[in-house]
Amino acid sequence: MLKGTKVGLRARYEDDIPVLRTELYDDVANAARAEAGPWRPITPDSKDPRLFVDGKNDGVVQFSVVELAGDTLVGTATLWGIDNHNRCAHIGLGLLPSARGKGYGTDVVAVLCHYGFVVRGLHRLQIETLSDNTAMLRSAERNGFVREGVLRSSAWVMGEFLDEVLLGLLVQDWKPDAKS
Ligand SMILES: CC(C)(COP(=O)(O)OP(=O)(O)OC[C@H]1O[C@@H](n2cnc3c(N)ncnc32)[C@H](O)[C@@H]1OP(=O)(O)O)[C@@H](O)C(=O)NCCC(=O)NCCS
Repeated sequence: MLKGTKVGLRARYEDDIPVLRTELYDDVANAARAEAGPWRPITPDSKDPRLFVDGKNDGVVQFSVVELAGDTLVGTATLWGIDNHNRCAHIGLGLLPSARGKGYGTDVVAVLCHYGFVVRGLHRLQIETLSDNTAMLRSAERNGFVREGVLRSSAWVMGEFLDEVLLGLLVQDWKPDAKS
């Protein structure tokens, strides 16, 4: 398991799947904001790649996030779009509603940076998020990500176009313990 100060990132267990499906992906408003495409229901027992990890895609690493105190499941974390030529990748995360606002998101980003830069030897990490997602923007910026641009009206979310912010962090600018 990869450990931060509050959360750990471990493999996806079978028992995680119904919890994540119910609390994250069945929430249409949340899923519509967190995913790039339209919300679609996930059939129980399906092998939907958002939940089921088969390890066949080298470009994606999916983790379940647990609280270090108690080992309770609190969400998902993903390194995706891994490009081993340009040595870059994207970060994604989603916490269960009851786990938000406790500093876990900031800690998950820190652990994903460690995984991307140290374990995988990447050079650049990138995050895209809606411009009104203050918690995600702050979680990224607290780990040193900088805003590199605004993708105007790039996301169709529940009846309207919203702006996305693109944030990046280069390995030489990463300060593992700095959360200013
Ligand atoms: C986005 C998300 C991962 C952030 O994780 P989190 O644990 O809630 O965030 P943290 O508790 O680490 O807070 C980070 C910062 O955001 C602030 N914050 C947290 N929730 C906030 C909210 N609802 N509104 C405004 N600011 C908020 C915190 O005060 C903190 O600010 P600081 O660094 O200035 O002290 C989490 O809220 C989540 O899973 N949301 C739903 C899914 C989602 O949006 N995923 C990202 C898709 S790109």
